[in-house]
Amino acid sequence: MAKIGIIGGSGYTGGELIRLLLNHSDVTIDFVYSTTRAGKKISSAHSDLIGATDLTFTGEVNTQVDVVFLCLGHGNSSNFLKEHKFSEETVIIDLSNDFRLQADATFQGRTYVYGLPELNKEAIKKTDALANPGCFATAIQLGLLPLAKAGVLQEDIHVNAVTGSTGAGVKPGDTTHFSWRNNNVSWYKPFTHQHLGEIGESLNSFGNPTGKIYFLPNRGNFTRGILATTYTKFNGSAEEAKSLFTDFYQEAKFTQVVDEPIHLKQVVNTNNCHIHLHKHDDILLVTSAIDNLLKGASGQAVQNMNLMLGFKESKGLKLKAGVF
Ligand SMILES: NC(=O)c1ccc[n+]([C@@H]2O[C@H](COP(=O)([O-])OP(=O)(O)OC[C@H]3O[C@@H](n4cnc5c(N)ncnc54)[C@H](OP(=O)(O)O)[C@@H]3O)[C@@H](O)[C@H]2O)c1
Repeated sequence: MAKIGIIGGSGYTGGELIRLLLNHSDVTIDFVYSTTRAGKKISSAHSDLIGATDLTFTGEVNTQVDVVFLCLGHGNSSNFLKEHKFSEETVIIDLSNDFRLQADATFQGRTYVYGLPELNKEAIKKTDALANPGCFATAIQLGLLPLAKAGVLQEDIHVNAVTGSTGAGVKPGDTTHFSWRNNNVSWYKPFTHQHLGEIGESLNSFGNPTGKIYFLPNRGNFTRGILATTYTKFNGSAEEAKSLFTDFYQEAKFTQVVDEPIHLKQVVNTNNCHIHLHKHDDILLVTSAIDNLLKGASGQAVQNMNLMLGFKESKGLKLKAGVF
């Protein structure tokens, strides 16, 4: 049994990890670190886990665990690692954006691999340090990678994506306050969202020229999930587009190309990414949908852990959608 440590376990991605790992037969949760809840039951933060575990949060860190997951905000992961020196044998999986870009990937003698299994599976299997992708970045890249690989992504790319309120973390804010968010919709960070960097690096990794991405993120009136609609010029037929995607995702365990138009609830509470293609004149519209906390965060982190430790890739991730 691999021993797991979770840092930031009272937050949303930390909570999702606890839920997944409690039901993973090859691991045991050694500790869940919290700066504010040491000594309190896990269920004090995650009431859905009442009866599921007797674990309590701790203020102590076991630096000898087999795997540590960092579920912290930007900048806090690198600070935490400076203050807590983990064993060289400990595998580090970071959910923040501290190590995702190539310029930031080397830290304390380890080089973090960008953890998108559909792109980097063989490198993930060999690494001991992993930068888990962003949630928007996962949905958008999965909708574009087959086109980038084929070298047919040279025109402007327009992305409109909407996220649930859990994407903003557990701490209440002006735009997550129920009175503001409910029955409401709004955009933010137009064309400048921080995930553009990692998306660009992945698309460029095939060595083909790619067009400029115009990304408009939206806040949705729901708690979980991301639906991204992406369109660009594509000269091939609908069948050619489909075969690029089905070939690219032939071996993918959690990404499916779907013939019927998709909606968000068919992936919420799962680690799946569903992709639908629609051709109109010379435009290809790609719709991709994920659960931001699972394929967009903790589910993908467990998928990566499975690959890194040599477990079955889908272990602990056979989940049912909350479709009704
Ligand atoms: N939410 C998503 O959908 C999503 C998706 C993909 C990636 N991510 C990324 O994953 C990371 C975590 O996101 P989240 O949504 O889980 O955030 P969150 O809900 O805000 O939780 C973060 C937790 O970190 C702990 N913390 C805060 N400051 C700390 C510090 N200085 N040192 C140690 N612990 C500290 C807090 O727990 P205690 O008070 O218990 O210490 C807090 O609950 C972020 O980098 C985020 O960008 C999030």
